[in-house]
Amino acid sequence: MTKRMRTAILISGRGSNMVSLLEAAQASDYPARIDLVLSNRPEAGGIAKAKQSGIATSVVDHKAFSGREAFEQAMDDVLRAADIELVCLAGFMRVLTPGFVAGWEGRMLNIHPSLLPLFKGTQTHRQALEAGVRVHGCTVHFVVPELDSGPIVAQSCVPVHPGDTEAALAERVLVEEHRIYPRALADVAAGRAVLRGGRCVFPGA
Ligand code: GRF
Repeated sequence: MTKRMRTAILISGRGSNMVSLLEAAQASDYPARIDLVLSNRPEAGGIAKAKQSGIATSVVDHKAFSGREAFEQAMDDVLRAADIELVCLAGFMRVLTPGFVAGWEGRMLNIHPSLLPLFKGTQTHRQALEAGVRVHGCTVHFVVPELDSGPIVAQSCVPVHPGDTEAALAERVLVEEHRIYPRALADVAAGRAVLRGGRCVFPGA
């Protein structure tokens, strides 16, 4: 059995993607183990869910720090103290500085609820409805300093139906998020997907 990469999940909210990663990592042959769930919001619902699953949790409340760098240093300290090798952002709602991102280059993933490079930022389902696209979806990408712009590891698409609401579309996309994030993390943890020269490459493929 190959080594399992020590992984942290960073959340700010309900943590449904976190749960999908925790469930996948229960398989004994999954190449990552979830060692820590870290939230910047003490009231995040995902923290309670992680505790129920017996996962170590940590809260680094951004409001308790004078600035972004101090907040990130505190998070970095927690991650390094836990010997974390991979970081998964899963509904983590703080913009990260280039300094923090550089420290985790090629080892930090994010899930974004659109088919990047379309619809960066927030309210992606509203953006998709306003643009009138017929397909929408989600993306797992390596994190780079520019927001929602890193090399793409995995994507999945869903149809946009006439009369769709934001909520209906979000629900359809979320099903795919829960499917592709565990697969993308497995690919990165196992070395099947690698950040190289500013792109995601698949050395064995
Ligand atoms: C997801 O749609 C994710 O793509 C976005 O924020 C949402 C988080 O949901 N970045 P959850 O906390 O994982 O349920």
